[in-house]
Amino acid sequence: MNQPDLDWKNLTFSYTKTDYNVRCTYKDGKWGEIEVSDSEYVPLHIAATCLHYGQESFEGLKAYRGKDGKIRIFRMEENAKRFIRSAEGIKMQPMPVELFCEMVRKVVKLNERFIPPYGTGASLYIRPLEIGISARVGVKPADEYMVIMLVSPVGPYFKEGFKPTKVCMSREYDRVAPKGTGSIKIGGNYAASLVAGEKAHDLGYSVMLYIDPKEKKYLDECGAANFFGIKNNTYITPASESILPSITNKSLTQLAEDLGLKVERRQIPVEELDTFEEVSACGTAAVCSPIAEIHDLDNGKKYVFSTNNEAGPLTTKLYNTLTGIQFGEVEDTHGWCEILD
Ligand SMILES: Cc1ncc(COP(=O)(O)O)c(C=O)c1O
Repeated sequence: MNQPDLDWKNLTFSYTKTDYNVRCTYKDGKWGEIEVSDSEYVPLHIAATCLHYGQESFEGLKAYRGKDGKIRIFRMEENAKRFIRSAEGIKMQPMPVELFCEMVRKVVKLNERFIPPYGTGASLYIRPLEIGISARVGVKPADEYMVIMLVSPVGPYFKEGFKPTKVCMSREYDRVAPKGTGSIKIGGNYAASLVAGEKAHDLGYSVMLYIDPKEKKYLDECGAANFFGIKNNTYITPASESILPSITNKSLTQLAEDLGLKVERRQIPVEELDTFEEVSACGTAAVCSPIAEIHDLDNGKKYVFSTNNEAGPLTTKLYNTLTGIQFGEVEDTHGWCEILD
């Protein structure tokens, strides 16, 4: 297997062309065969519902080259189940879990030479997406759908990697509506977050930390990542209808319990930030990204969590355990990884 000539250790979270993607179409009431393509393009009808009415959902998961040389895929059934919820949330055809998993295995195997070598810290990001492809002019769901899975070798999401980053927050921006689509992973949510996200970047922050859109009192989530804070040996993460249920957060919650921490999933008032010992963003892309400072753009208040450019001890422990499981260095006691033959 000839590995591509990539600077594995310095990969960023960006698109790199690989050899293949896989596709599957839902037509005449059934899913077809999995097709393999080496094209980076999709032929689409100009009136397809994904282009006009936002019938698009996606997922994000990773495959890792382990210490033992084996390929591990992390919790893909969880992504498959969330992909179903996202499809149902915008009236698309849900893809069965087993078909989703078969596509993931296939796209990873086909692009095996792009899985970053063990020890580089990089991984293979897998991006499944579903689009409505039937032609419509009126606002109505499609009856034909396409699922595509592409992959890209990636490095850290935030340029700081595991070094603490600065984020900002403001009540001026909502990513989603209170009873809207925040708990599913659809493209429209991300389009709606771009103005706030770019504002944060322009001001020199990694990301915008969203405050709940209903009462504007509680912490919601951190751009394309969930939020958690630690104090008094307790892992605390927001309970909210307007955030995406993160699979990484779910995993860290379990690991926190395993490490003997208490876990609370509840509303977190903004002012409570003053009391946290460690805070972090978490997600497939972000893994665990410690937060050094949070700046409230509305009143100029600064919450500071790290002054030495290092993550806190419990965040570090959680990060090491999670990535240890993913890279086959720590025993996978919960059976989260599937090893590919
Ligand atoms: C809005 C949002 N929140 C949270 C997450 C983290 O979720 P996960 O850990 O499942 O990747 C993501 C990324 O998928 C996201 O886009």
